[in-house]
Amino acid sequence: MHSNKDQSFSANAGLEHALKLLQQVSFEPHKLPKKCPNSGLGELETMDLLAPHVLGRAARLDRSHALAHMDPPTPWITWVAALWNASLNQNVLHPATAPFAIEAEKLLIDWLKPFFGMNGGHLCSGSTLANLTSLWAARDAAGIKRVVASKASHLSIKKAARILGLTYEEIPTNSKGQMDAEQLKNISDVCLVLTAGTTATGSIDSLKLAGKAKWTHVDAAWAGPLRLSPSHAHLLEGIEKADSVAVSAHKWFFQPKDSALVMFRETKKANSAISFGGGYLTSPNIGVQGSRGAAAIPLLATLIAWGRDGLVERIDRTMLMSAKLAEELSNKKGIALWALPTTGVTVFRPLTCRTDELHKRLPEGMFSTCMLDDETWLRSVAVNPLADIDEIISIINDEINWKFVLHTHKLNNKK
Ligand SMILES: Cc1ncc(COP(=O)(O)O)c(C=O)c1O
Repeated sequence: MHSNKDQSFSANAGLEHALKLLQQVSFEPHKLPKKCPNSGLGELETMDLLAPHVLGRAARLDRSHALAHMDPPTPWITWVAALWNASLNQNVLHPATAPFAIEAEKLLIDWLKPFFGMNGGHLCSGSTLANLTSLWAARDAAGIKRVVASKASHLSIKKAARILGLTYEEIPTNSKGQMDAEQLKNISDVCLVLTAGTTATGSIDSLKLAGKAKWTHVDAAWAGPLRLSPSHAHLLEGIEKADSVAVSAHKWFFQPKDSALVMFRETKKANSAISFGGGYLTSPNIGVQGSRGAAAIPLLATLIAWGRDGLVERIDRTMLMSAKLAEELSNKKGIALWALPTTGVTVFRPLTCRTDELHKRLPEGMFSTCMLDDETWLRSVAVNPLADIDEIISIINDEINWKFVLHTHKLNNKK
C-alpha cells in the first residue's frame, strides 16, 4: 500500500459506523484474542468485535438511577472535541505541534482563573497530579517541608507528600467532616491543604484558614465548579486567598477523562519552581507531565456551547437533586442521614439492616459505599444531570419500607 493512500489515517465511512455502534442498545460480546494478533482484523471488524465490550460492558453513568460516583456523563460536544483531538494528536509541550491547542488552554485558564482568585495555571490529567504539582510548587517556591491536611483529605495529598519527601500531618475532623481547626497548631511554616468537597462526604474545610499558612493549597477537585454558580459560589468563599487550587474537570465540569486544572495565585513564582527547559524545547516544560494533549478543547467547547449559564443550570440541577434526596431521607424512619449535603454528596445508612445488604439490593450504580467512624454508609454523588431523583427515591422507599415493616414485625414478635 502506498503510504499516502493509507486509509487508516484519514476520516472515512468507518467513523459513521462507529457512530451507529455508539447508538446501538444491545450487543453480543465475543471473546477477544488471548495474544497480540499477528495479522489485523481491519478497522470495521475490530469495531464490531470491541463495541460489545467497550460500549456494552461499560458502567452507564448516564442512567436515570446513576448517582454513585464523581464521574459524570459527558456532553456530546466533548466527544466531538475528543475525536478531533485524537485525530490531530497535538502536543502542548511543543508550540510547533500545538499552535491552537496552547492558545485554547491559555484562553480557558483566563476564563476560569478569576472564579478562584488565581492568576494562571495549566491543565493536567487529574487532581491527583494537580495536587502533586501544587505541593511541588509549595516545596520549591516556598521552601515547605511539612504538609498538614485533614483526616478526610484525598489520598493523593498523602501520596504527593510521600513522593516529594515532605512530612505529612493529619488533623482530625469535626462532626461535619471538616478539618477540626481547633486542633491546628503553628501553621506559619507549613503547606496547609484544605479540601473543598471531601471525597466521602463532600464537606468543605473552613476556607477562612486560607492564607494563614506559609502556603495554602485548596483541593477543590470535587466542589471547585460551584464557584461558577451564583447560587453556590459563596460556599467556597476564601478560596481566593489560596496559593494554589486543584479542580478536576472530569468531575463537575462534565469532561471526559483525563482533565483537571491546577492554578496558582502567583503563577510566575510557582512556575519558576516547576519548570524545566530541555535543549530541544523552545519553551519550558511546566508541571509534572511532559507530552500532554489538548484537554482544554473539550472544556472550551462545553463552555462555548452551554455558556456559563448552561453549565451552572446543570450543576444547580444536580445540587437540587441531592437536597431533595436528603430531605426525603431525613424524614424517613429506619434511615440515619449522616448530615445535610453541602456539595451534592449525600451519605446515609439504614438502621434496620446492614448497609451492604441494602446496597446489594439496590440497582448497580445507584449508590457507592464509604467508611465513616468505622461504619459503612451509602454515598450518593449528584453529578448526573440525567438522573431521575423521584425514581431513585421511590426505589429506596420500596426497599426501606419493606425492611422497616419486616424489622418492626420481628420486634413485635419478640415481645
Ligand atoms: C477531594 C479529591 N481530591 C483529589 C481527587 C483525585 O482526583 P482525580 O481522580 O482527578 O485524580 C479526588 C478524586 O475523587 C477527590 O475527591
